[in-house]
Amino acid sequence: MLKHLHMTVAAISILLFTFRFALTLVNSEKLTLKWLKITPHIVDTLLLGLGIALSIKLALNPAEQLWLAEKLFAVLAYIFTGYYTLKLARNRTMQIIGFLGAIGWVMLIVRIAISKETVFLAGL
Ligand code: HEM
Repeated sequence: MLKHLHMTVAAISILLFTFRFALTLVNSEKLTLKWLKITPHIVDTLLLGLGIALSIKLALNPAEQLWLAEKLFAVLAYIFTGYYTLKLARNRTMQIIGFLGAIGWVMLIVRIAISKETVFLAGL
């Protein structure tokens, strides 16, 4: 139940980010819509909160389960590259590079979530 909620919120976060990226590319005025500014913050906070709640419920400690530490790092990197893409990138090229970077982190996150194995910290 908690896990499915977690996965749903994660999917919403990625969809919202992709939608806002598409709006950014076409310079849409929709970006200033109140719900589009507020909802992503609520969703991303929920995503982190649910992930932490799930870790506590399953008694998973990132200091012991290295895959969880790597996943947490990747989620923070996804949130920051997302912020870069939508707020800091000054032109279309930078926005596209930022988007590709963020999607790369998402791929790593999903890979770790499913395999529950480290990718970069392998062998530690
Ligand atoms: C974009 C962000 C995230 C995505 C796409 C994501 C994706 C997923 C998916 C697909 C699963 C189910 C894996 C499976 O058992 O088949 C999962 C489980 C889980 N996630 Fe996340 N997650 C994200 C963020 C987080 C964060 C921030 C945390 C921790 C703070 C976290 C902790 C967990 C835990 C503990 C499980 C359960 C693992 C188990 O069943 O043993 N996730 N996640």
